[in-house]
Amino acid sequence: MPGFIRTNEPDRATALDRHLPIQPPADIISESEYFEHTKPPEYLPKIEQQVDEFVNRHNGKRRIAVVTSGGTTVPLENNTVRFIDNFSAGTRGATSTEQFLENGYAVIFLHREFSLLPYSRHYSHTTNCFLDFMEEDENGKVVVRETYQKNMAETLKKYRHAKDKGLLLLVPFTTVNQYLYTLRLLARELKPAEPSKVLFYLAAAVSDFFVPSSRIAEHKIQSTGTGKLVIDLDPVPKFLRRLVETWIPGAMIISFKLETDEKLLLSKCRQALQRYGHQLVIGNLLQTRKHEVVFVTEKDAVPVRLSQDQIDDAVEIESVFIPKVIHRHSDYIDSKVQELQPL
Ligand code: PMT
Repeated sequence: MPGFIRTNEPDRATALDRHLPIQPPADIISESEYFEHTKPPEYLPKIEQQVDEFVNRHNGKRRIAVVTSGGTTVPLENNTVRFIDNFSAGTRGATSTEQFLENGYAVIFLHREFSLLPYSRHYSHTTNCFLDFMEEDENGKVVVRETYQKNMAETLKKYRHAKDKGLLLLVPFTTVNQYLYTLRLLARELKPAEPSKVLFYLAAAVSDFFVPSSRIAEHKIQSTGTGKLVIDLDPVPKFLRRLVETWIPGAMIISFKLETDEKLLLSKCRQALQRYGHQLVIGNLLQTRKHEVVFVTEKDAVPVRLSQDQIDDAVEIESVFIPKVIHRHSDYIDSKVQELQPL
């Protein structure tokens, strides 16, 4: 059961392995060198088995989406007390996953452990405690309060459908290293499937910097006489190109770009497209991300915005833009079929 994999525990068996080769200087480390100089998470074979079963169940029958969600951490100590985190509650990924499932996809949800999950998100991270949704009836039985009955029944029905049909696989991560190893594994395991029917939808916020294994402190960093802590971080190699070119060529890849300065957003999205050669970048600003996104391709930039009425009615923007994503995925599959037709 994926729920039993714990990703936020230090690796006790090998608390610090000084035998790993020293990582080369940051400017020359490549994607493959990264994997030579860091260790895979111990639980990876378990995930491999679950993914194999999932792929066998759905391959050829329906489209598969890999949705990444939540922020990755960068531990500063091997026995981790302190870490650097990336902003993301997991709302985008969890909400989008519900939309993909409702539109016939099977979804592998690669998410930060304890961030928002599809369906349970409606009750787990609200300002209410989940117990506030319940009450005792006259017979002393715990029941859902009348005001929540309708919504909860609808959510429960969708959740049960996804669960009973085995359409949703939950795969957790905490650190950036776990994320990268697991993403590569998923791409490799999905490769035998008809690649164009596989969609990678990368909504996770991935750390750009990390502390290499060879330099990480074993124990909690102690405060020194100067009182300052100077942290020396290396850049995480850009893995998107690997994903596009070698891990799963032919799949449709969508990445996100988060910025806070509106003036930078479009140029950053275009830069990502040029650098990685994938199909679509969805740009969003931290301040307006729940109401507006922009679809950027080589050809154009198309904004998707909620109207004021939709905002007042608490419409979730994913319910508006995921159907457009699916439409683009259909066009992409058609274009790949045409490429195979004899002239
Ligand atoms: O979860 P919420 O609170 O709802 O927030 C959603 C969100 C704002 C986090 C989401 O909509 C979003 O924008 N996610 C992407 C954030 C971002 O800009 O990530 P990034 O700059 O770390 O990465 C951009 C893309 O490059 C990612 O798709 C990632 O897969 C890729 N990347 C990043 C780092 C790296 N070393 N290699 C990569 O390939």
